[in-house]
Amino acid sequence: MHMSNSNEAKTPAARDPYKILRDPYLEWIEREGAAVFEDFGCNMFEVETKPWPRFGMDGVAVHLKGRGDFMSIFVMDLKPGKSSTPVRHLYEETIYVLAGRGSTTIEAADGRKYSFEWGPGSLFAIPLNARYQHFNGSGRDTARLACSTTAPGSMNMFYNENFIFDNPWHFPERMGQDRYFDGDGDYIPIKPGQNIWETNFVPDLASLELTDWAARGVGSTNIMLMMADSVMHVHSSEMPVGTYKKAHRHDPGAHVMCVTGKGYSLGWFKDESDLIRVDWTHGVVFAPMNNMFHQHFNAGPMPARYLATIFGSLRYPFLTNKRELNQSGVDTSVKEGGNQIEYEDQFPLIAQMYEESARENGFEVKMSKFDIPGMKKR
Ligand SMILES: [Fe+2]
Repeated sequence: MHMSNSNEAKTPAARDPYKILRDPYLEWIEREGAAVFEDFGCNMFEVETKPWPRFGMDGVAVHLKGRGDFMSIFVMDLKPGKSSTPVRHLYEETIYVLAGRGSTTIEAADGRKYSFEWGPGSLFAIPLNARYQHFNGSGRDTARLACSTTAPGSMNMFYNENFIFDNPWHFPERMGQDRYFDGDGDYIPIKPGQNIWETNFVPDLASLELTDWAARGVGSTNIMLMMADSVMHVHSSEMPVGTYKKAHRHDPGAHVMCVTGKGYSLGWFKDESDLIRVDWTHGVVFAPMNNMFHQHFNAGPMPARYLATIFGSLRYPFLTNKRELNQSGVDTSVKEGGNQIEYEDQFPLIAQMYEESARENGFEVKMSKFDIPGMKKR
């Protein structure tokens, strides 16, 4: 009898005969044969995909260091003239179109079909367990989709892929209004930083109207997106030229994607000795780790807008700390027991780096009304 000592040929369960510390989501990714990318951040235009038979597309599971327990991003390629395999699944999915043009059909419980056409910069959500199919409308260009999913949360909760992918239950309450698939929506004004645009489809995220949220940074604007009545939270924010936002911290799982402009983000736990820097342009995503302070900087000649997908929405916070954060406000200073660092409390290296970036990139710093350590007086 031949006995193999190779660990590689064994299933994850066989590698651990005691059946402890399992991660059914990662085991499922391995069984799928999916490509995996792991790092602090990822350029989603450059990451390599490979065939992912279940979806009829090429794809890669992007596992960022700060992705947390519930979410990941699948970057998927739909080849010219092709359509994806129709699927439904018991995890939520919000899709940002990085490149290409096409359409998606979503089937409602009563058999009705909703179709809409998307292009670069479109954003849409798949209502939970609704069957859907993507079509690439171009005979020439591959469409690349950044699909934020709660697959890790669902797989680790139920650890049965048939339950997740072959479940007949319908969730009509997730479909929203018919017009939500046409790019229309409902504006729900709450307060700065919490104003909601409820829809299922945003044709062009770069031109979506944002509302003022000065408490988060000079000239900062923002909108919360409530899409397909999801537990997954989505928001978009913008920083004017020559400005940056205040640093803050929270639990992991926030996937931050650059949509327009260019800039960088800093992350740290203690101080400047453990700074991590990510430079970004359209298509770069990163996820701050648990309770890591992080701060976003516009370092270009245009307003810089980003998109964030996070587990736990304003409507369905799901997590105790998310509920508390949304009640108390995420813009309370650390000096008052909150999680935001005011401009005047920054360590000087932050402003020095920004001044240097302004010199290199030829933009004017517009932070003069604040007394910021390390910043040149203008
Ligand atoms: Fe954040």
